[in-house]
Parts: sequence; structure tokens; C-alpha cells
Amino acid sequence: MNVTRLIQRKRDGEALDAAELSALIEGYVAGAVPAYQMAALAMAICFQGMDDAETTALTMALMASGERLDWEGIDGPRVDKHSTGGQGDKVSLVLAPLVACCGPRVPMVAGRGLGPTGGTIDKLESIPGFRTGLGAAEIRRIIAGVGCVIASQGGEFAPADGKLYALRDVTATVASAPLITASIMSKKLAEGLDALVLDIKWGSGAFMKDIESARSLGASMDAVGESMGVKTSFLVSDMNQPLGRAVGNANEVREALAALAGEGPADLMEVVYELGARMLVAAGHSEDTISARTTLEGELASGRPLEKFREMARAQGGDAEAELELAPASEVKAARAGYVSAIDSEALGYALIVLGGGRRSLEDTIDPSVGLQMRVRLGDEVDEGQPLLDLLSNGKGHDEALALVGGAISITDEPPVELHALITAGP
Ligand code: URA
Repeated sequence: MNVTRLIQRKRDGEALDAAELSALIEGYVAGAVPAYQMAALAMAICFQGMDDAETTALTMALMASGERLDWEGIDGPRVDKHSTGGQGDKVSLVLAPLVACCGPRVPMVAGRGLGPTGGTIDKLESIPGFRTGLGAAEIRRIIAGVGCVIASQGGEFAPADGKLYALRDVTATVASAPLITASIMSKKLAEGLDALVLDIKWGSGAFMKDIESARSLGASMDAVGESMGVKTSFLVSDMNQPLGRAVGNANEVREALAALAGEGPADLMEVVYELGARMLVAAGHSEDTISARTTLEGELASGRPLEKFREMARAQGGDAEAELELAPASEVKAARAGYVSAIDSEALGYALIVLGGGRRSLEDTIDPSVGLQMRVRLGDEVDEGQPLLDLLSNGKGHDEALALVGGAISITDEPPVELHALITAGP
């Protein structure tokens, strides 16, 4: 294989075939293809894109670098959801036990937070003892006994993606629809799913800053999922402000537990129910999304999903009933009266990083107790001096975070002309 020639061809807009992509990924994992060549190729893909066949081939090559879960002997449909990420997105923590209580099995392989978007694995690891580095055998055992599990990618699932993602992160090659598609779908398809529902975020805090790019990312992921025999669908949801009120790892787990106890904020619950309803329909459990939603609401009211979350936590070594400590809170107040007309949600994500609650690089360790607690939402009218949010800080990066959040919330005389719909249908 002449790697330089492959990079040249991609640079000039040609398509690479499945055999070439597979050899490249194998070579990269084995160390035969150096990082600088892989980075050059990733940059060429950023500029030239990939067609559906190439994206599927890259997804399969990444997936083939690790294990694929085998469900022989465990009955029931397997369904999962994936979000492209944002701030305050704790949906998976509520959704996995809720859907599992309805019957389908939910084997979730999730990621750590990187940059301004948070990660489900970091949130769960703020629960004392909670282990996410599970092998395939343990995942099977927990799925058979509990019905849901949330595990990290580790070295077992699509390890080539782990290596490539770390490289993309430091070479400004994350924001490419085919690379994001292959990265996410390689992990999700390693789960051996029957159905997958995607939550594609758009807005100030998301990878995709406009709704059209989000839709086209959703369509690309949908095409790859379907071509690999997984019933795939997507919705597009708003990330122009954090989801719910809580941002930060332990803080978000607390909000997720409150949601499971029936006290979730309305926007969080809306996303949970919309995704959950699609999962139940895709799994063949419900006829349509309206009856599925009624099922989900009834199930949540029964209290069983909260117990299911605790059971999952116990199976993964964690104590979900332990009190989660939060860093001391200080109020950030409005400098003037007016309307909250814009929120730079990504800047809030960066504020979390400087407080120590997120990562600049995959090696960073995080402080689960820091975060933000939003007190206002887009469109709210505020008085001068009214608290906009609480900063949960242990001192590290406090002033820098304060400057970031102060600049992130715009207050104007007029209310925003348009408040975006929380959820927009996919295709
Ligand atoms: N999350 C992933 O797992 N991969 C990407 O490329 C982007 C977000």
C-alpha cells in the first residue's frame, strides 16, 4: 500500500475503496502508518468529504479493529441511542434504565467528554465505585440480568477509533461529517444492535452550528446504520443552551436521578420521551410513538426506572444512593435588566473545563464536583442583579470561568425574535 498515493488521491477528491481503507486502518493500528500520514489523510477528508460507500467502509474498518458484542442465548431486541453531544446532556442516564424497564435491552457504549461537550462516562464515574471499563463477557452478564449497561469504549470496542479520535482532536480534524459518522457508528455498531436512535445536536454548544449541517450528519449516520442492517433513525435537537439546568459531572448525575424520580426539567424530559418513544417503536415494542410515550410516562411514574438505574450501578460496582458532593456555589448576576437573547453554550462548556470539570486532552483528570447550575433560559426577562447561574467551583480557574460565563449570556432590551424548537424531526 502506497499511503502517500492514497493521501494524494483523497486530496484531489477521489474516492478510496473498502480494501484501501481497511488496509490503512490496520496499518495505523499496527504502527506501520505513521500519525503524520493519518493526520494528512484526515485533513484531506475534512476538505473533500467521503461518499456513503467510503463512510460505511471506514466505519467497518474502525469497528473491525475490536470486538463486536455477540448476543447468542440472550433474547429480546437490543436498542440504543447516541447523542452527538453538548452541555448538560444527561439523557442517556435517564433513558437507558427507562427503556430497559419497558422490555428492550440497552447495551450502551459511551464516550468521555472532550473539549466543550460532556461525556456520559465521566458523569457516571462521579458515582462512588462506578466502573465503566467492562469487558464483553461482563456486558453480556449485566444485560442478561439487569437489561441495561453503560460501558466505556476502552481498548475493546473500535480501538482504532480511539487512536484516530485522539489524533483528530489535536489536528483540528474532528469537525467532518464522514469522520464523525464513522467514529460514532463504529462504536455503536460494535454493540450488535437491532435498532439505533440518534440525537443530532445543533447550535452554539454543538459540533454542528446550523440545523442543515446537523440534518446532513444525521442522514449520513442513518445511511451507514441502515447499510449495516441496523434500523436507524434520528432527530435533530437544540443545543443553543444547556439541556436542563445542571452542567458538570456530579451535578448532572443529581439532575438525572431527580428526573428518574419524576422531577426532571421539562426540556430534558421532552428529549428523553421523544428518543425513548422512537426506541420502543424501533424495537417493535410499541405500534407508534404516541402509545410509546404513554408507556414511558407510566413507567417513569412507577418508580421502577430509578430502581433500575440503582441496580445497573450496583452491577457496575457503584453506589447510586451515595450523596454526591458539589463544589461551593457562587451566584453570577445579570449586569443589566433585559431579556436573555443568546447563550453561547460552547463557552459554558469551556468554563467547565477551566474549573477542572472537563478535558482539554484525553489524559486530563477531572473534578466531578464542579459545574454550573443555570437559573435562566433563553427568552427569560431578568432584572439587574438577578442571578443568571451558580458557579460551582473549588477555586481552580474560578476567575477565568467567571469571565467566560459572563460573556456567554447576552442580555438585550428586546426578547429574541425566534426561540428555536427543542426538537425537529429528522428526515
Ligand atoms: N464523538 C465521537 O465519538 N467521535 C467524533 O468524531 C465526534 C464525537
